[in-house]
Amino acid sequence: MRSGSARVILGIETSCDETAAAVVTEGSVVRSSVVSSQVDLHARFGGVVPEIASRAHVELLTPVIAQALIEAGVEDGEIDAVAATYGPGLVGALLVGVSTAKALALVWDVPFVAVNHLEAHLYATLLEDPSLALPVVVLLVSGGHTMLVAMEDHGRYRLLGSTLDDAAGEAFDKVARYLGLGYPGGPAIDRVSVDGDPSAIDFPRAMRDDGYDFSFSGLKTAVVNHVRKHPHVVTADVAASFQEAVVDVLVAKARRAAAEVGARGMCLGGGVAANTRLRERFLDACVEDDLHAFLPSRSMCTDNAAMVAAAGWWRLRAEGPSPLDSGAEPGLGLPLLVD
Ligand code: KG4
Ligand code: ZN
Repeated sequence: MRSGSARVILGIETSCDETAAAVVTEGSVVRSSVVSSQVDLHARFGGVVPEIASRAHVELLTPVIAQALIEAGVEDGEIDAVAATYGPGLVGALLVGVSTAKALALVWDVPFVAVNHLEAHLYATLLEDPSLALPVVVLLVSGGHTMLVAMEDHGRYRLLGSTLDDAAGEAFDKVARYLGLGYPGGPAIDRVSVDGDPSAIDFPRAMRDDGYDFSFSGLKTAVVNHVRKHPHVVTADVAASFQEAVVDVLVAKARRAAAEVGARGMCLGGGVAANTRLRERFLDACVEDDLHAFLPSRSMCTDNAAMVAAAGWWRLRAEGPSPLDSGAEPGLGLPLLVD
């Protein structure tokens, strides 16, 4: 079995509602990246239904992998390792990807690499900018997580802060639902906000100048209370003002963390990193603070398998293959440095 010299990695991602496969060479050259979103299947429920997600992964994963191999022009015997997300995520969904990856690794006689989904989001940035100078502060904002992480080296992370209640993406989704903007909420609020005034309503910025943890549930309640009190308020103004409050807190904490850590740059990761206003404000902050800004493309911000293959390549080099009896870990956290 090849391991140390592995170059070509097949990545598989099934942790939530995206079925994805990608072929990446040496952790940075994306030869294919196929993402099949199940968003339409879950839209009428207003959120991801775990059982529906698992069943859809079972149906979609084989064709998605086949497409990724074909698009990459992979020759027989060219894949050196198979990497799959093993957590965090929905257990049934994760198991589909992990089992498939292990089966392929066995058949092809190549290593299997279990990849942490959060670490994969961090590597999405590296994929597109391999010259990344460390340390960097990474703001990881998705539907399930809001984390501020100092990345000191490959695989060496220090968690500076995380959310005490709702994740940023979850807040976007809940507020959008309340405003009747549909699902998924983040892109809907992003779109509607273009026509709104971000300073129309002065929503609270919880804990902005206090530590590195986040709290968004009070903001969500403030939106509900405001709309109840002012039923004729313009929805675009509410959306834009809500978005501004979230972005304000995220950017303020990230730049304060970067200053404290002595970071050379700041990175964005996770689905919310696709947000137009967050990208704008993040870039402005980096220019002002003389920091290198690393913003993955929008397709690399949301769940995909290229980032899984990239993280898998680094993990394989650092630690070798994962055992074939390793399972899914739905509650997995980021592997952190211990002082
Ligand atoms: O990372 P991701 O694809 O899945 C996980 O949660 O792991 O993130 C999905 C989240 C959802 O909450 C979605 O509403 C949010 O990212 N999102 C956005 C935007 N695009 C996706 N939030 C704000 N603005 C966007 N443009
Ligand atoms: Zn994600």
